[in-house]
Amino acid sequence: METNSVSSLVIFLFIFLAMGSQFVNCSVTYDKKAIIINGQRRILLSGSIHYPRSTPEMWEDLILKAKNAGLDVIDTYVFWNVHEPSPGNYNFEGRYDLVRFIKTVKKQGLYVHLRIGPYVCAEWNFGGFPVWLKYVPGISFRTDNEPFKAAMQQFTQKIVGMMKSENLFESQGGPIILSQIENEYGAQRRALGAAGESYMNWAAKMAVGLDTGVPWIMCKDDGAPDPVINACNGFYCDTFSPNKPYKPTMWTEAWSGWFTEFGGTIRQRPVQDLAFAVARFIRKGGSFVNYYMFHGGTNFGRTAGGPFVTTSYDYDAPIDEYGLIREPKYGHLKELHKAIKLCEHALVSSDPTVTSLGKFQQAHVFSPGDGTCASFLSNFDSKSAVKVVYNNMHYNLPPWSISILPDCRNVIFNTAKIGTQTSQIQMLPSNSQFQSWETYNEDVSSLEVSPTFQAIGLFEQLNVTRDISDYLWYITSFDIGSSESFLRGGQKPTLTVNSRGHALHVFINGQFAGSAYGTRENTRFTFTGPVNLQVGTNKISILSIAMGLPNNGVHFENWNVGIQGLVELNGLDQGKRDLSRQTWSYKVGLKGEAINLVSPEKVSSVEWVQNQAFTQSQQPLRWYKAYFDAPNGDDPLALDMRSMGKGQVWINGQSIGRYWMAIANGSCGVCHYVGAYRAPKCQVGCGQPTQIWYHVPRAWLQPTRNLIVFFEELGGDASKISLVKRTTTSVCANAFEHHPTVSNYKTESSTSEPKMLRQAKVHIRCAPGQTISTIKFASFGTPKGTCGNFQQGICHAQNSHAIIEKMCVGKESCKLAVSNSYFGSDPCPNTLKKLSVEAICSAKIN
Ligand code: GAL
Repeated sequence: METNSVSSLVIFLFIFLAMGSQFVNCSVTYDKKAIIINGQRRILLSGSIHYPRSTPEMWEDLILKAKNAGLDVIDTYVFWNVHEPSPGNYNFEGRYDLVRFIKTVKKQGLYVHLRIGPYVCAEWNFGGFPVWLKYVPGISFRTDNEPFKAAMQQFTQKIVGMMKSENLFESQGGPIILSQIENEYGAQRRALGAAGESYMNWAAKMAVGLDTGVPWIMCKDDGAPDPVINACNGFYCDTFSPNKPYKPTMWTEAWSGWFTEFGGTIRQRPVQDLAFAVARFIRKGGSFVNYYMFHGGTNFGRTAGGPFVTTSYDYDAPIDEYGLIREPKYGHLKELHKAIKLCEHALVSSDPTVTSLGKFQQAHVFSPGDGTCASFLSNFDSKSAVKVVYNNMHYNLPPWSISILPDCRNVIFNTAKIGTQTSQIQMLPSNSQFQSWETYNEDVSSLEVSPTFQAIGLFEQLNVTRDISDYLWYITSFDIGSSESFLRGGQKPTLTVNSRGHALHVFINGQFAGSAYGTRENTRFTFTGPVNLQVGTNKISILSIAMGLPNNGVHFENWNVGIQGLVELNGLDQGKRDLSRQTWSYKVGLKGEAINLVSPEKVSSVEWVQNQAFTQSQQPLRWYKAYFDAPNGDDPLALDMRSMGKGQVWINGQSIGRYWMAIANGSCGVCHYVGAYRAPKCQVGCGQPTQIWYHVPRAWLQPTRNLIVFFEELGGDASKISLVKRTTTSVCANAFEHHPTVSNYKTESSTSEPKMLRQAKVHIRCAPGQTISTIKFASFGTPKGTCGNFQQGICHAQNSHAIIEKMCVGKESCKLAVSNSYFGSDPCPNTLKKLSVEAICSAKIN
């Protein structure tokens, strides 16, 4: 009896554990409709926030803002090179504290998509690979190569192991619902043929074998073998279908804007087009959308890939580089998300029925047969608005837009109609001044006295520096005889230097002789310029600069940097003189870098010079330092570097990043949201330096005596550098009466039909810590213009200003109705009216 009950207990326990482990392992699965979490198919809205591109102090706020925008998932890559700076030495501290980041997401109740890669692309140095990996004997990246696969497996296991030991997978009760292996491997696989194919299969098998209990993704690789899900990346993904009918339709990168490169313009993406793209994807049955980026952030230090990717990785994302909400992008997407979520049940329970409503118009209807119904009415005509008839009702569809009807009757959202507030954000002067600028000249004259090494010929730069610095000196000498004719008034000889990238400055006998730069598209370039030579020995010192290592392209690890090919003098009596095959001295990095001059502990180890003329001169290769107090308040901060040239800047020893006042070349014109979007479509900033402002995280400052140090390659006026505050200065509303908004859509009880409230409402809100101090403009009628320059139209309710002032001044936010009754009477019957308001935001007075 006893034995019996023990054995039945054992059997029971066995069954229980088996069921339990099955349940635990199966908490995230998928089918053709969606990712399934704990038995529920879900429409998941996700946003990329890369943890090293902000500070841990910013994470919670960023994630909260993402949550308030209606996101369910935070997506991040894992950046191998910052975690394993040398083989076997790991770093998960500070900005690299991946576990803390994931736990912060969990705290807000959101999920995580962990894109381990470990190849990540991401405009990140070397695509996320540590540079030492290139020097592992016999290695070849991202192909069927044993040393590479061994290293990749080791790092992937390390990350998965860390996540498991912290119980971070959803199968363990954690927030991670998805993981990615590789990144956009499809094109490379096709280029590599059989080796690419077997590497992809190996990578998938290796990842699946790690037994995380959550699905694996391979984005942009339609070869992804089962059970790995292939996903789409792009500006639009509605023509995408997964490679198997039983996989869900997922969009891992919906590009919210685009990255910036020094010398290029800022690329913006109108939110009406982004919302249209997302709605297009959802209406065809897509169930996962990740915005790349939702917050782009900053490429601090030397993390930017490239070459030439800017320090700012703002990306025109809904949350800007500084962590402030970008309107109307954020608000409009938030409304879109609410509208999509109202359709969730119908979307995940049925396939759409598509009917034509006109030449460029369609209805996608999801009606699972249980009484629910959601429809998406689209107009692909990029020129005209169209009236369509659907379900015996008339609907007006603006050009290039989709209307969402969560009950197949009422339009609660149209992708082209922005009903949310807009805001104006400005860089305002701070009360902080830089005190006592001092300078220190980087040594140019005695470099060859202590070279890193000497050798015959020109060496590839990365091989020499192993990327411990952007900078490598190439130094050589040659003799000029007294009989040369240029010495007696003839034409000066010219020097030609061929480089594989990315920039160089030439010094002849210690004197600056000129610079040359490659471009992102073509990193090779040639310096050619006249040089001042003297009788006897002449010295050429060339500072070659890497501006971020490439992050994509087939075998990008083999792309060379530095002076390669020919270094030649022309115009001597003998004709040409080839200098490339003679002895060169190499010096890795700057003297200031070697002594860590940028750190508060080491800054005093050299003789700094306090001389105003030096601070303002065009002298190249100079270090600068000063002290400043932290500005009051909580506004995000930036350095305005427009008076300088090119270099790197540090605050309290932390690297803010590379700066460069390269002028943006491009074509900036009027940008309309309609028509297919490509990154060059909406450019701003032509003719201005690409990046003037450099984010200074508040967390890096102490109240007083903060140290700023920078290295300037070209020269400039440091006395004009300033610290500015990024501030929301005003918020605007601009909404038509009867305008449908998601918040006007109410279900009175769970059984009754949802009803549209016909009175449109707008909500305006200043940034946290601010209140509305003044109403700069208010008009209910037919006002014209946009936020910042509204004007009254012919029709205007006289009491507009007084009413809005009473409702809003002194408050953080206010809700306004756009209706005749709200303003007492109809100022112009039979005219469609709107309300435009501009409210000034000011710091709250405590
Ligand atoms: C994608 C890539 C991302 C990022 C993006 C451009 O192709 O997967 O990592 O590089 O392009 O910002």
